[in-house]
Amino acid sequence: MKIASIGSGNMGGTLGKRWADRGHQVMFGTRDPHSERMKLLLESAGANAQAGTIREAVAFGEVILLAVLPDAVESVLAEAGDLHGKILINCTNRFDGVSADEEVRRLAQNARVVRAFHSLPWEALANPRYDAGNATAFFSGDDPEALAAVANLASDIGLDPVDVGSSDAMAKVDMAIGTMWSVLAPKFGRDYSLSVLRR
Ligand SMILES: NC(=O)c1ccc[n+]([C@@H]2O[C@H](COP(=O)([O-])OP(=O)(O)OC[C@H]3O[C@@H](n4cnc5c(N)ncnc54)[C@H](OP(=O)(O)O)[C@@H]3O)[C@@H](O)[C@H]2O)c1
Repeated sequence: MKIASIGSGNMGGTLGKRWADRGHQVMFGTRDPHSERMKLLLESAGANAQAGTIREAVAFGEVILLAVLPDAVESVLAEAGDLHGKILINCTNRFDGVSADEEVRRLAQNARVVRAFHSLPWEALANPRYDAGNATAFFSGDDPEALAAVANLASDIGLDPVDVGSSDAMAKVDMAIGTMWSVLAPKFGRDYSLSVLRR
């Protein structure tokens, strides 16, 4: 697929590189396409990756990954241009009581928003395979075709996608994951994952 990553840091850089490696065409939408940091990222991402402005990347992508810090979400979406028909993956998190999911759905009303990849640290996205199985990527949204596309993008990089249904259900999952993180991260560090075993 043609994927734009708005944000080229831990999340955008990691997922963009992994999708490029799996044969997808990736454009990083960035404030400075010619920066030294972007040059290094493109070198490590290989021939399937390129960089452009945020607007160029949004025009390029069938799928847009929104991977910026919370205080940049509003300005980036305002700059993005027409999101009509685009699949917008929201992996942003906020820790100030505002729902990052609701915020992006409100600001990007003509996009097909899917909440995904936010429940995993970038270290697990870089390598979701553990001895006991693959990390689960919980996702939610309203648009069946967009959900299927995002599930495929998760599977492509070795994640086990689990559709939790509605935004309300995702809020509950996020609450549970956050609670577990507060207990497990001090014990195992950032690079542990949850996996939903099922028959
Ligand atoms: N880190 C994790 O493990 C993790 C896990 C789950 C969810 N998240 C969420 O994912 C999002 C990104 O986190 P991250 O760790 O990838 O952050 P990061 O490494 O700091 O990268 C953020 C990116 O946002 C872009 N950016 C920053 N300020 C901007 C602005 N004012 N306007 C436009 N673009 C701006 C930058 O791209 P350019 O400099 O190229 O423009 C930068 O590459 C956050 O919302 C975070 O809560 C992170």
